[in-house]
Amino acid sequence: MIQLKNIVKTYDAGNRKFNALDGVSLDIQDGEMVAVMGPSGSGKSTLLNIIGGMDMATEGEYMYDDINVTKMKNKDLHIFRRDNISFVFQHFALMNRYTVYENVEVPLIAAHVNPLKRKEIVMNQLERLGIEDQVKKYPTQLSGGQQQRCAIARALAANHRLILADEPTGALDVSTGNEIMEIFREIKDEGKTVVIITHDNGVAAKCDRILKIVDGKLTKV
Ligand SMILES: Nc1ncnc2c1ncn2[C@@H]1O[C@H](COP(=O)(O)OP(=O)(O)OP(=O)(O)O)[C@@H](O)[C@H]1O
Ligand SMILES: [Mg+2]
Repeated sequence: MIQLKNIVKTYDAGNRKFNALDGVSLDIQDGEMVAVMGPSGSGKSTLLNIIGGMDMATEGEYMYDDINVTKMKNKDLHIFRRDNISFVFQHFALMNRYTVYENVEVPLIAAHVNPLKRKEIVMNQLERLGIEDQVKKYPTQLSGGQQQRCAIARALAANHRLILADEPTGALDVSTGNEIMEIFREIKDEGKTVVIITHDNGVAAKCDRILKIVDGKLTKV
């Protein structure tokens, strides 16, 4: 599903260049659940952002199925993201002025789903995440675990095949984090592809495969 060949991401650090990713090649199969580990600053988020079309590689080739993402123009990249990618972030990235319901509805509005169908999908997702009784609340009125459930409901609403999560349990206590990992496991069992950045060995152990990045390079785990 995902094929990266020799991906380099270069940033300007003052007057010298710095490779946040330094020749990363990897394949991720359809339906795999992959953990990305590595020290702070090693390039994990940079890698996830490139896979998610949020950021462009400086060099190398990124194929998503038969789509060459590295060759895309900005406008096409936006459509690629909208149609293929779901993100879950450490700090949830919910919109505080929208209710739980409205937050989950956002990707469906972007995908031009009609209002009746939207309601059905939003309520299904909220039920599956066990927060259907929280629909009218605002994110600041929820616990951390509930906020992360809401963010996952939003990510799942669009029914994309690829779910990318940047430290989804990083802001949660251990038992809530475990519950969230159970949900990711279920998502994987439904056939979705999941890539999770984590600092937590327990989280990584629940994945099918662990990728480790050090100084912008993949290393053996
Ligand atoms: N926009 C940017 N401009 C310049 N340097 C950047 C930029 N974004 C990231 N970097 C640098 O690239 C390197 C990799 O950053 P990245 O965010 O991918 O690390 P990470 O592995 O996700 O770390 P953490 O575990 O702390 O989240 C870091 O040294 C960072 O300072
Ligand atoms: Mg990061």
